[in-house]
Amino acid sequence: MKTYNIGILGGDGIGPDVVAEGLKVLRTVMKDGGFDCNFIEYPYSGAYYLKTKELVTEKVIDEWRTLDAVFLGAIGHPDVEVGLVERSVILGLRFGLDLYINLRPIKLYAEGLCPLKGKGPDDIDFTVVRENTEGEYSQIGGILKKGTPDEVATSTSIYTRVGVERAIRYGFELARSRSTDRNRQGRLTLVDKANAIRPQEIWTRTFAEVGKEYPDIKQDHAYVDAFTMLMIQKPEWYDVVVTTNLYGDIITDLGSMLQGGIGIAASANLHPGKTSMFEPIHGSAPDIAGQNIACPLGAIMAVSMMMDYLGEKVAAKCIEDSVAYLLASAQISSADARSGISTTQMGTMVVEQILKLAA
Ligand code: IPM
Ligand code: MG
Repeated sequence: MKTYNIGILGGDGIGPDVVAEGLKVLRTVMKDGGFDCNFIEYPYSGAYYLKTKELVTEKVIDEWRTLDAVFLGAIGHPDVEVGLVERSVILGLRFGLDLYINLRPIKLYAEGLCPLKGKGPDDIDFTVVRENTEGEYSQIGGILKKGTPDEVATSTSIYTRVGVERAIRYGFELARSRSTDRNRQGRLTLVDKANAIRPQEIWTRTFAEVGKEYPDIKQDHAYVDAFTMLMIQKPEWYDVVVTTNLYGDIITDLGSMLQGGIGIAASANLHPGKTSMFEPIHGSAPDIAGQNIACPLGAIMAVSMMMDYLGEKVAAKCIEDSVAYLLASAQISSADARSGISTTQMGTMVVEQILKLAA
């Protein structure tokens, strides 16, 4: 029997609660799926830092490299310096494991979840391919003469040909695979801001060059400001979208609203063929931590993406179908605390739906 070694980082706030529900679901699909998992827990979080002053080390990152996957809840603590633990853990994983693709599906499972009038599941089904190791997140920069009238702050965005090309190529391949298994457009949209930030022309040019190898894929472009408007105005136009690290961060929070809220949005941080990391998009939400009201669907869908990545396609689909059914049948009426369903109860509902599907 295949056994996967999976690193578990519950993290802060609601992170451990939603991870527990994700694992509950994973244990359920494991039973029928004919595979096993070995869970290795890691304590890194803001809360752990406050207690021990420990952050992620190179040695830990080396250990993560030997795993099959990492499942992360959320990182961020109100009493810790802004961004310190996020950079250590989340960017430690993304940069340390060179997880160059951040895959973020924007998929609506029930019309009632969408705040747009007249848009249903057929209209909202696109995936954002966010470049995940460069751009505005490069950490190149700093502050000089801090706190003085002469203070200078710099932040350098990095776009390498290798980094840009591998993201764009992944986008084209994804558009191709989606257009064969569904009746959708087969379209890749590049989102950048190359009109104002001229070095982003490397994106435009690389897109055009690589695009020549994909004549079967419709090729499209939008500046990021216009894109925020267009994804609300005509979300049905979009199939696969490829973009920079920061724009991908921003547009997927907006996109999560189209799917019913940040509570259901999931993501895969991938280095195809190597250890990859899976997480809900939401943060640690300290204001609702420990109340058993956080929506675990984002974490559960992240488990589905993890299973898909590991090649356990049946398990992945079973989780997705169960969540989709519970939402479409309005047994779960919203992907947030308004559903009136507790975190643990929602996890149990997904487990029961999976068992029904399997029976
Ligand atoms: C996300 C988050 C992170 C990011 C933060 C917590 C560093 O917003 O995963 O979208 O900016 O990428
Ligand atoms: Mg974000």
